[in-house]
Amino acid sequence: MKIILPLLCSLLLIGCNDQTAPQSSSTKSSEVAPPSATVTPLPATANAPLDPALMFSQKCASCHGAKGEKSALGKSQIIADRTEQQIKDALKGYQAGTYGKEMKILMQGQVKSLTPEQTDALAKYIPTL
Ligand code: HEC
Repeated sequence: MKIILPLLCSLLLIGCNDQTAPQSSSTKSSEVAPPSATVTPLPATANAPLDPALMFSQKCASCHGAKGEKSALGKSQIIADRTEQQIKDALKGYQAGTYGKEMKILMQGQVKSLTPEQTDALAKYIPTL
């Protein structure tokens, strides 16, 4: 017993020292891991289509024309003629309630559920129509 106790103590000490070092580094690496795991809200965006051509034909073409060539309900500008930045500003502005004319409530309803990725994809796509 008298020999074993000091041995045990030194083993514990070594054990502790050994554990603290890898632990701190492993917590660091596990701190990095979860965010990248949570940065996968891809499931959420996967449910919402990101294909701008599909989104446009399903959600926008009825009013704006298949090629964005119509003045929607005789009220909007011809969006195919607008730049990516102008469209982005308009869509985000409708979402924020800071853009629009007399029929903005209608457009707010069209864009309120779109993700930033979707509005960006649409803004990029529409000028190519
Ligand atoms: C029910 C018809 C309708 C649908 C569907 C619709 N829009 Fe519109 N859109 C309008 C009207 C009307 C306006 C003008 C609103 C206003 O008074 O500000 C407009 C305005 C816009 C503008 C700004 C142009 C301007 O005049 O400043 C953009 C960009 C736009 N729409 C894009 C879209 C996109 C992208 C979709 C699909 C997600 C869509 N719209 C769906 C009717 C529609």
